Amino acid sequence: MAQYDAFAEFYNRDWGVEYHAQLEGVLDRLLLPHLSLGDSILDVGCGSGQVAARLSSRGFRVTGVDESEAMLSLARVNAPGSTFIEGDARTFTLEPPAVGSIATFETLNHILDPVDLESALIAMAESTSRISVFDLLAEVAYNVFWNGTGTVEQGGEVCEFESHFDVESRIARCRVSVGGRATTITERCYDFHFVDWVLRDQIGYKHVHRFDGMRELGMRGDIAVGRVFYQCLK
Ligand SMILES: C[S@@+](CC[C@H](N)C(=O)[O-])C[C@H]1O[C@@H](n2cnc3c(N)ncnc32)[C@H](O)[C@@H]1O
Repeated sequence: MAQYDAFAEFYNRDWGVEYHAQLEGVLDRLLLPHLSLGDSILDVGCGSGQVAARLSSRGFRVTGVDESEAMLSLARVNAPGSTFIEGDARTFTLEPPAVGSIATFETLNHILDPVDLESALIAMAESTSRISVFDLLAEVAYNVFWNGTGTVEQGGEVCEFESHFDVESRIARCRVSVGGRATTITERCYDFHFVDWVLRDQIGYKHVHRFDGMRELGMRGDIAVGRVFYQCLK
């Protein structure tokens, strides 16, 4: 069972609302100027398809891949014009490659081993002919937001979460309980110098730019703290 299966319904209703609203402006700036209407976009870790739905409504052809069948079932409802495939970001490649690719809402932080992250970045690059955009969280976000407990209430349903970031191992865990079901979301905080090295030296992107979500991309609120977007051009 994938870690988002038990959490999919709640995620779909509530979890990403603020993030997705702000993401549109980021993609307008970093991704869409490099694409033409009708171009294909690969959405790695597409979740419940909210990003695919927005891109598809704006005239792009989206293929989403995710390891969670429950998230993919919701994605097929949210973005009926897109294609969704169950797969692992570390090994999945799209043939022929899409023109652009994305991995949003710190999807790549969910990959816990640096060797696996490198595989996922290579797989994404092999599946993309022009541009990739993805975000990762910096340590400040884990220190501030991944240490403690809280509740989120939505539509009468209460979601309780308890999280901890271990500075030594760089691993952050969040135990989420909702509607009698529980799951643990686990992420790894990566050193951006390592990510830069993979993108520039191992993959060989011509241009790799890093943007601070809050200072450089106009994102606001907790969701923007420590959020870094990569824009990689071939
Ligand atoms: C925080 S959600 C983001 C979903 C979506 N990108 C969005 O912006 O709403 C992270 C997603 O990544 C998926 N995921 C995590 N690790 C994965 C892997 N190795 N391969 C494929 N999907 C993965 C999860 O199932 C989940 O749907």
